[in-house]
Amino acid sequence: MALLGVNIDHIATLREARKGIEPEPVYAAGIAEQNGADQITIHVREDRRHMQERDLKLLRQTIQTKLNLEMASTEEMISIACAIKPDTVTLVPEKREELTTEGGLILKEKHREVFATLKKAGIEVSVFIEPDIKMIKKAKDLGADTVEIHTGKYANFKNKIDINNEIKRINDAAILIKKLGMRAVAGHGLNYYNTQKLVDLNIFEEFNIGHSIISRAVFSGLSEAVLTMKLIVE
Ligand code: PXP
Repeated sequence: MALLGVNIDHIATLREARKGIEPEPVYAAGIAEQNGADQITIHVREDRRHMQERDLKLLRQTIQTKLNLEMASTEEMISIACAIKPDTVTLVPEKREELTTEGGLILKEKHREVFATLKKAGIEVSVFIEPDIKMIKKAKDLGADTVEIHTGKYANFKNKIDINNEIKRINDAAILIKKLGMRAVAGHGLNYYNTQKLVDLNIFEEFNIGHSIISRAVFSGLSEAVLTMKLIVE
């Protein structure tokens, strides 16, 4: 049975739209955990467009499952991570202008020291990369504990042949990750229609899913929200 990491970034996106105090990510994390989330994932971006350091600190104190921090490998973020100590750091590429994380991380020799610093602080190191054999071997060589396969291409493909080819690429990648003794995780763009096929591969230990869960939550909660306000107004 695979584990579910719930990415709650977009709770903070909604809050930052008004720069106010609601909705509160700490509540979202609690509800996610009470309903089976095995992990809470947040991305503290350089531009702080959604999650803030305040959220990271509070979530570290309140989360009862596991906290997975997605971040770029900048000096600032490495020192924040070493101070707050999430259970896992997932290193992701970050471009200021992107809407979301586009493409996987390109691993370089400089990452060796970054991984060592995080591991010394007792943090599990995960890398978010494309299902690429060379990059997976590089992750192992540099000392990563876990590889999260970027499933964005799979999620975006529209025709069956492309989808099936990408599933094969993802499956081969996961087999190699496990053979090399790392944890195999998948995420990005997964929703209520495309996740099952990857679950059926029976190879991923964990899935990190955000946008589709928060999107669905808007509609599953909208009726109650309108009815309650209607009662006040009446
Ligand atoms: N995994 C990683 C490494 C990510 O960067 C993201 C997006 O922040 C996700 C999973 C979740 O993607 P989505 O919001 O599309 O489910």
